[in-house]
Amino acid sequence: DETKTGVKGLVDAGISEIPSIFRAPPATITSPKPPSQFTIPTIDLQGGSTDSISRRNLVEKIGDAAERWGFFQVINHGVPLDVMERMKEGVREFHEQDPEVRKGFYSRDPSSKVVYSSNFDLYSSPAANWRDTLGCYTAPDPPRPEDLPAACGEVMIEYSEEVMKVGKLLFELLSEALGLNTNHLKDMDCTNSLLLLGNYYPPCPQPDLTLGLSKHSDNSFLTVLLQDDHIGGLQVLHDQYWVDVPPVPGALVVNVGDLLQLITNGKFKSLEHRVLANKAGPRISVGCFFSSYLMANPRVYGPIKELLSEQNPPIYRDTTITEYSKFYRSKGFDGTSGLLYLK
Ligand code: SIN
Ligand code: FE2
Repeated sequence: DETKTGVKGLVDAGISEIPSIFRAPPATITSPKPPSQFTIPTIDLQGGSTDSISRRNLVEKIGDAAERWGFFQVINHGVPLDVMERMKEGVREFHEQDPEVRKGFYSRDPSSKVVYSSNFDLYSSPAANWRDTLGCYTAPDPPRPEDLPAACGEVMIEYSEEVMKVGKLLFELLSEALGLNTNHLKDMDCTNSLLLLGNYYPPCPQPDLTLGLSKHSDNSFLTVLLQDDHIGGLQVLHDQYWVDVPPVPGALVVNVGDLLQLITNGKFKSLEHRVLANKAGPRISVGCFFSSYLMANPRVYGPIKELLSEQNPPIYRDTTITEYSKFYRSKGFDGTSGLLYLK
């Protein structure tokens, strides 16, 4: 029953040593310092939809970042600062409220409308993660306000509507960067659904022995992440080095997911990332995943035909979101890329 109040429940019980299921293999935690020139690009979205010179410039920067890094931060993205702040505050409130209320949302069934849980991959991963999550599909069918937690339900809907707008702009820019029609990726239903995860990484008494989140790549086309302004700990694996994605106040982190790597035939990279545990905390983050709706999208996805040629033959086979998601979930965060399965 304790597991239904998450990792936060363990911390509140006053433990000073982490339970053994959280102990990660040491090699998955330590890492050599990356060369100092390794920095995730920050891209200013201002003006991208108005004049054509800055549009071209922006398209080039975004395409370059998606190809070389798979990760970038965006500023002047149009999401109001106060919505971002209320979103993070709402997630904190949800996870810090009376455990009895949290428990009411506990579920391990991925098809539930609203899911509060820890470690969806508990039984397939090498170690459990030091984090709790509240998740919900906010598009295409946003849940009714009365089905959502009082602490953050309203702002979840409000924030996802804002992220949907940024997402549409990003998919337009990425389509152009691929040399395709502006609406190409949107027309492939890349923005049909949005999964929102409100993450809570409690302070950890032994941060050198576990991870906030194990190494993985995302099961999405694109992910838009709002992270805490001060704790940090998100790292991306670039050229064998773990590179920090430092908090930039007001910025959103954007990363390419497996499905976008699949349909771009490997041009845009879905890089692996992880989150370190920290003695300080909590760290709050909110991930929004553009991935077609698990239940309702029968569409087949494979490398986009317009991008293929004799020199660029398809390197992945076709799949459906349902097939890929089943595989992704059963594999868990075991440190391998799900895309190997589609080779
Ligand atoms: C994620 O990778 O899904 C979340 C990353 C973070 O919390 O910063
Ligand atoms: Fe992720």
